[in-house]
This record gives sequence, structure tokens and C-alpha cells, in this order.
Amino acid sequence: MTEFLIAPSILSADFARLGAEVDAVLEAGADVVHFDVMDNHYVPNLTIGPMVCKALRKYGVTAPIDAHLMVRPVDRLIGDFIEAGASIVTFHPEASDHVDRSLELIRSGGAKCGLVFNPGTPLHYLDYVMDKVDVILLMSVNPGFGGQKFIPGTLAKLREARARIDASGRDIRLEIDGGVTAKNIREIAEAGADMFVAGSAIFNTPSYAEAIAAMRAELAQ
Ligand code: DX5
Ligand code: ZN
Repeated sequence: MTEFLIAPSILSADFARLGAEVDAVLEAGADVVHFDVMDNHYVPNLTIGPMVCKALRKYGVTAPIDAHLMVRPVDRLIGDFIEAGASIVTFHPEASDHVDRSLELIRSGGAKCGLVFNPGTPLHYLDYVMDKVDVILLMSVNPGFGGQKFIPGTLAKLREARARIDASGRDIRLEIDGGVTAKNIREIAEAGADMFVAGSAIFNTPSYAEAIAAMRAELAQ
């Protein structure tokens, strides 16, 4: 059976209490910490960088940290994130001039690597690097902000990505990011996703444990 991973996006956490928020969401049953890095250039918002990732490790977070880089240029931040303790580093291929090199920088640093696809970005960036990616992340909203609505066309794209993964015979995670809730998580899983980022649907609720349990209950059906 597929092992589904729930990855709360700390973009919707209370940044003034970030360590405690991460503790709380892990205690509530999260598998991975999704760490959204925005540069006010590639995306119209500005968030957090490697120093904050490092601080979370120093604070004692041992769970995998999934650094989603929405930045341009990409390469100069990769080493910093690996040094800061990121376990997975993903980036948007159109934001890198040398996709193969960026993937290699992540791999050689010892982290898992992946490509992220905006809703309008075709999957053909995968054509010559399927043997090098550990994660494929499909955005189901346009990147930049939490709390947006899931774009339904992403379901067909998930099926296409799942078919590519199956054809590759490799163990590649299919991650989905944007507008994921307990209401739509099941159809998203049925379309092929096995790793689910959720920000507002977890952090904007009174009980993180209940929010995550509701998602897992849908996935178990
Ligand atoms: C958007 C970010 C997402 C976002 C998800 O650019 O990559 O991770 O925080 O938030 P929700 O789950 O609220 O759509
Ligand atoms: Zn993200």
C-alpha cells in the first residue's frame, strides 16, 4: 500500500512562534515540514530563507524539511539550504538556466531533489531528467500565496505525471501543493499524488491533529 505523506506548509503558521508551531504540527501527525521560500522576484511574495531552516534544526526539529524554492536564480541558494538541514530541495525548472546542473547540485549535497510545475508549466521538463529526480511537485495554485483554491485541471496533470513515474519504474514521490483540503484529498490521491502539502487547511484550524486525522481518514478509504 502507498505510504501517503502529509506535509504542512509553514507559510500559514504563526511565524512569531515558528518552532512551537512546527512542534505542534509534527505532534499532530505530520510527516514532513514543507518550507516555502519566496523571493519577491520569481513569485510576488517574500518569505524565509536558509537561516530559518537552520534555526529550526538548531531548535531540535528532526523531521524531514522539504524546501520548496520559488526563487530565481536557484543555484546560489541550494548549498545554503543543504547546509541548513533541508532534506528535500525542489525548484521550478523555468527559474533555472541549467536544470540538470541544479538537480546535480542538490543530489551531490546529499538531499533529495525535485522539479516543481506551475499550473501552466508543461511536464516536458522531465523528459531528460526522469532518472535524476526523487520528487515531482505539481502546483495546484499559482505560487506565491497560501489559501487559494485548488485548480481542477491539476487532476489530469497528476494522472499524466503518475503515468510518467510508473513508466520510469523509479521510486519518485508525486507531491501536490495548493488548495489541498480533507474534502478534495481523496480525489487528488486517486489521480496519483502520494505527498500532500497543506497550509491553510491545517494551520487555520483550531486542532492540527483533527485536521490531519481528517485527511488521513479520507486517504484510508
Ligand atoms: C504556494 C505555496 C504553498 C502554499 C499552500 O506558493 O507553495 O505551499 O503555502 O497553501 P494552501 O494549502 O493554503 O493552499
Ligand atoms: Zn510550497
